Amino acid sequence: MLENKIAIVTGGSEGIGFGIASALASKGILVYLIARTKEKLEKAKEKIIQQGGKVDIKPVDITDIEAVKKIVEGVYKDNGRLDIFINNAGAWKGQSLDTPFADIWKLIEFDMRVPYELTHYLVNRFRSEKENTLRILTVASQAALKVMESGLGYGPAKMGLVAGLFHLEEELQREGVKNVRLYRLYPNTVATEKMMNAIRANQVQDPVKLEAVVDAAIDLLLDKTPTRDVRVGYYPGRGIVRTYLPSNPGDFYHPAETTEEVVDSNFTPQDLLK
Ligand SMILES: NC(=O)c1ccc[n+]([C@@H]2O[C@H](COP(=O)([O-])OP(=O)(O)OC[C@H]3O[C@@H](n4cnc5c(N)ncnc54)[C@H](OP(=O)(O)O)[C@@H]3O)[C@@H](O)[C@H]2O)c1
Repeated sequence: MLENKIAIVTGGSEGIGFGIASALASKGILVYLIARTKEKLEKAKEKIIQQGGKVDIKPVDITDIEAVKKIVEGVYKDNGRLDIFINNAGAWKGQSLDTPFADIWKLIEFDMRVPYELTHYLVNRFRSEKENTLRILTVASQAALKVMESGLGYGPAKMGLVAGLFHLEEELQREGVKNVRLYRLYPNTVATEKMMNAIRANQVQDPVKLEAVVDAAIDLLLDKTPTRDVRVGYYPGRGIVRTYLPSNPGDFYHPAETTEEVVDSNFTPQDLLK
């Protein structure tokens, strides 16, 4: 179902974005990677080509929304379609009462406004393209679901982002739009390459392996999950667990309606250090 499809992945040169991009490429999808640093993009491209995948790179800062729009239009023009947009680029920074508010606001702008504005643009751009079904998967965070330590900017950003996406969802439902579909992924702490030093130094609590997050993203895009909102994380004594949250805008904050699935009961974070 994914062969010959076209995908764009923001923050696709490393971490979760690269993991998802490389899994999509392994399924025959042509992936366009967006990030700022050309050298990192080149390396990511090389890895995907070595794995037999099709890939192109677009160096850009996603805060330049107009430049991202141009990339989307170019990709659509070149291929006559856009099937998947992974709205992934984001950054975590620990922020406390001592953090100047200007820095908190800057993080909210980056982690909330940018992915929200991109989704708003994509929804409007593609809702009348009846021949094209666009799946937009946003990588949110567990920080969208609970208040976390040192999250003065990151927490409200991810919560606000998800709230915005549900408002867009509500409008799509009200207008009966079926060809733009929104999916949300809420990882707990993930063992990305960048995180490994902190994991080795025991500074990170209960990381989940990257593959489990990538698998959840692919299952979402294939509509294999019971809802379009999946939290994934490692829980001591239980292993890797997916929580399926309600995708109906009106039900989202009713935790009684969640269901859980243990996807790997054998994994422990010690496995990451082997
Ligand atoms: N890692 C976790 O534990 C975790 C947990 C929950 C949620 N998340 C979320 O998952 C997403 C990915 O996180 P990650 O940990 O995988 O990130 P990461 O390893 O730090 O990678 C970030 C990616 O985004 C790109 N990027 C950063 N700023 C950008 C900008 N202004 N314009 C374009 N590209 C930009 C980076 O490349 P350049 O620097 O070259 O631009 C890189 O490709 C984020 O939304 C994060 O909040 C992460």
